[in-house]
Amino acid sequence: MENVKFGNSNLNISGKTLEGSVALVTGGSAGIGFGAAKQLAEAGAFVYIVSRRQKQIEEAAARLGPSVRGIAVDVTNKEDLKRLAETIQKDHGGLDIVFANAGGGRPIALEELTEGDIDHLLGVNIKGVIFTVQTMLPILKDGSSIILNASITADMGLPGFSVYAATKAAVRSLARSWTTDLKHRHIRVNTVSPGVVPTEGYRTEQKMTEEQVSDYAQRVTSEIPVGRVGTPEDIGNAVVFLASDSSSFITGIDLVVDGGQTRVYQGKN
Ligand SMILES: NC(=O)c1ccc[n+]([C@@H]2O[C@H](COP(=O)([O-])OP(=O)(O)OC[C@H]3O[C@@H](n4cnc5c(N)ncnc54)[C@H](OP(=O)(O)O)[C@@H]3O)[C@@H](O)[C@H]2O)c1
Repeated sequence: MENVKFGNSNLNISGKTLEGSVALVTGGSAGIGFGAAKQLAEAGAFVYIVSRRQKQIEEAAARLGPSVRGIAVDVTNKEDLKRLAETIQKDHGGLDIVFANAGGGRPIALEELTEGDIDHLLGVNIKGVIFTVQTMLPILKDGSSIILNASITADMGLPGFSVYAATKAAVRSLARSWTTDLKHRHIRVNTVSPGVVPTEGYRTEQKMTEEQVSDYAQRVTSEIPVGRVGTPEDIGNAVVFLASDSSSFITGIDLVVDGGQTRVYQGKN
């Protein structure tokens, strides 16, 4: 314990910075989770990806290559997560990185929001994140890095997304509290807050057509200083940074990865 430090000061965010590390990415069969798993594996980590549907998660792992394994897990189910922790412990002896990413939401008018909608959103976006981190704690090595996926909606009003946005504000808050809860184990906890990243979820969860996604991406681009929407790999790069020793003096923060969208005035001059 005495020798465990918050990483080292070897600044190198390119190349195989995560060689020898073992990572878990929840919601890894699609979208941001898939992109993050790709970047983590490219940085040298062995990556476990999980999501609910077995066929999709196994296919995703096969696409990502031999240093990625896919396992069917529902993050709202503690028994699934316990089995996962046992498997990781048995096969790799523990974990160095957790990216609790599984989640999502769709626009629902306040007047139409049902109890079932609220339970679903809180279930996957908050309970699922808590269960993931809590269940992995016994196998997380001292000095490891936990990254939670929040969202820029945590501090922006967005029509129809009030409960979703509130769950993401909760995720940011969990990270700050866990930073103190886990400091005796030198475990860092940070969040990433993606901006607009058109993923499978826009079609499956938000029920947008291909054309609607492309129109939306085009419209929103004028609000983004870097002049484009985000990709899952953009978020993956931020996750690799927060997972690596290059960020060893960073904990408890929210890293906004939105091309500057929420950093600039969006009104008309
Ligand atoms: N895309 C954006 O613009 C954006 C912006 C800000 C934040 N985010 C956040 O980024 C995260 C990923 O979003 P995304 O756009 O990449 O979503 P996505 O394309 O819909 O992918 C979601 C992934 O999560 C899995 N998943 C859903 N519920 C799960 C559960 N209960 N247990 C395990 N896996 C589950 C899905 O697979 P199964 O359905 O097979 O389980 C899938 O692999 C979410 O937390 C979202 O809120 C996204």
